[in-house]
Amino acid sequence: MPRSLSGRHFLKLLDFTTDEIRYLVDLSKELKKLKMAGVPHRWLEGKNIVLLFEKTSTRTRCSFEVAGMDLGMGVTYLDPGSSQMGKKESIEDTARVLGRMYDGIEYRGFAQSICEELAANAGVPVWNGLTDDYHPTQILADFLTMKEQFGYLKGLNFVYLGDGRNNMANSLIVGGIKTGMKVAIACPKDYQPDAEIMKWASENGDFLCTDNILEAAAGSDVLYTDVWASMGQEGEAEERKKIFKDYQINDSVVAVSNEGVMVLHCLPAHREEEITAKVFEEHANEIFDEAENRLHAQKAVLVKCMVD
Ligand code: CP
Ligand code: NVA
Repeated sequence: MPRSLSGRHFLKLLDFTTDEIRYLVDLSKELKKLKMAGVPHRWLEGKNIVLLFEKTSTRTRCSFEVAGMDLGMGVTYLDPGSSQMGKKESIEDTARVLGRMYDGIEYRGFAQSICEELAANAGVPVWNGLTDDYHPTQILADFLTMKEQFGYLKGLNFVYLGDGRNNMANSLIVGGIKTGMKVAIACPKDYQPDAEIMKWASENGDFLCTDNILEAAAGSDVLYTDVWASMGQEGEAEERKKIFKDYQINDSVVAVSNEGVMVLHCLPAHREEEITAKVFEEHANEIFDEAENRLHAQKAVLVKCMVD
């Protein structure tokens, strides 16, 4: 059991210990049981949160919103076009205003520094709902899904294929290494994770980065992929299709994995790009469990990080 997370921001997994990450995953599992059994858990009644989005979303917005409502809270959604932040008002002032009205702030947007600046000025917990660098709440849902199938995280052979430099790759490397997985990334040489993250991963666990997709995938327990062009990179989409074409999850990759390999995708997915439609549909139950688990994981973060 970790020390209290009350009042903590949730900006990136590097800020959390192994025990804290494991604890949040286990709490997500308990919260899922309550939801499935129809047991009310309005533990945060009387509190209010705001969801501040500068990029679009289905899963993150809906999971934060339903999690907040299940916990008895009021929830305000500010869409990419309808706050003053970054247009008529600074990030600092936005944080100072929202922090006086709400008990917590979720932010999805561009630079990680925006999320950090909101956190520095809000006076209430700030949760990262995806930046260009990290997507930490997604990882808790991913780990819950893996734990449901395998019963453990430590020792899993985890393999990510595709853009090694994006928010998902960064977050999965950190989360995987922190929870004791063997982490391999297969990506083109020019799309490797930042040297700093690779150094951290190599110093703290079992980490491989290679441009050889079959070398990475051999003996994998979990295969994971994400879009080749992330939000904000739409203009590079056609070029990226050519760059990443050999980094697809398909039958050849599944064939060198362990029997019973789990295939995950944070979604939205582009079939026949990062994953074939066949493999996607064969693993659709796992992938949509993963999407559902966003709700239970988000709830764990809200329950633990809000001020008691
Ligand atoms: N996986 C995920 O974050 O999905 P959304 O972009 O729909 O929130
Ligand atoms: N890398 C993707 C993740 C979407 C959940 C993006 O940033 O668009």
